[in-house]
Amino acid sequence: KFKPRIFSGIQPSGGLTLGNYLGALKRFVEKQEEGIETIYCLVDLHAITVWQDPDKLRDNTREAAATFLAAGIDPKRSILFNQSQVAAHAELAWVLNCVARMGWMNRMTQWKDKAGKNRENASVGLFAYPTLMAADILLYHATHVPVGEDQKQHVELTRDIATKFNHDYGVDFFPLPEPVIEGAATRVMSLRDGTKKMSKSDPSDQSRINLTDDPDTIAQKIRKARTDPEPLPESLDGLKDRPEARNLVNIYAALADTTPQSVLDRFGGQGFGVFKPALAELVVEKISPISAEAKRLMADTAEIDRILGEGAQRAEAIAQPILQRAYDIVGF
Ligand code: ADP
Ligand code: NA
Repeated sequence: KFKPRIFSGIQPSGGLTLGNYLGALKRFVEKQEEGIETIYCLVDLHAITVWQDPDKLRDNTREAAATFLAAGIDPKRSILFNQSQVAAHAELAWVLNCVARMGWMNRMTQWKDKAGKNRENASVGLFAYPTLMAADILLYHATHVPVGEDQKQHVELTRDIATKFNHDYGVDFFPLPEPVIEGAATRVMSLRDGTKKMSKSDPSDQSRINLTDDPDTIAQKIRKARTDPEPLPESLDGLKDRPEARNLVNIYAALADTTPQSVLDRFGGQGFGVFKPALAELVVEKISPISAEAKRLMADTAEIDRILGEGAQRAEAIAQPILQRAYDIVGF
């Protein structure tokens, strides 16, 4: 009944990281190459769930768009746009706010992590983030959502919301989207703390590799990445209780399009004095061309705005009829 369609988004709340690249962007490009219809969104409405400086938000949105283009997103084959330019996202989110239950939202680990102990002072938007994300996906009748591991729970919630909407109104209107989580580094961890995910919102710049970092900075961050003194093991079992070592091996595997075991086949028995420089070289080799091309594209912001504007029109053409049908079902 529903044809395959991919939707995914990234927040333009700061420069994109190696985690965004391996967990999302790299796979967005692969999906585009598979010839499936692909819709990619810079989710600026999500970004303002925590305070953003307006000028920086505008810059970050353009920079994220430039990075998508530099990484290989082709605006002729994929729809690339920013969320605030298609009002239907916010409109459907309201309807879904009235479908989702408080208890479901309270269980979201991202909400608990991001609000922390200071819940009384978190924005209502931060709490409602998952219903907006559900709207993003359902508005396009998307069937597949490539995400990193950290977003899996939100895609599952989207399925629950779609199921309840369909049930409450006695329709078979929203498809149940599948999270697509594949590859070695679906959860890239912080370089400073192997138990925390690498994130653009981490206060420490040393914790992450930004896609705009120059080669020296990348090499320096990897050299200083927290590790243990043991050499790399010969097999995956030996990485079980070594989150930092496992993270670096996973990053290497994902960038080299291979498995963590084949990385250990090559580097097992060797220390980080050997492995870290090899990893730095690989990261630089894969990331530098993207950052150089993104920088070049950033020189022409009018062109970036034009591409995003065209993407928004194409997104609107899909979203509007689906929103109108949802309104009709609800009784508007
Ligand atoms: P961030 O946490 O950096 O703000 P977003 O919430 O914008 O990232 O997430 C954008 C996409 O990048 C999502 O698919 C998310 O799962 C993925 N992602 C973010 N951080 C990581 C990470 N450390 N490892 C793997 N994927 C990640
Ligand atoms: Na996130």
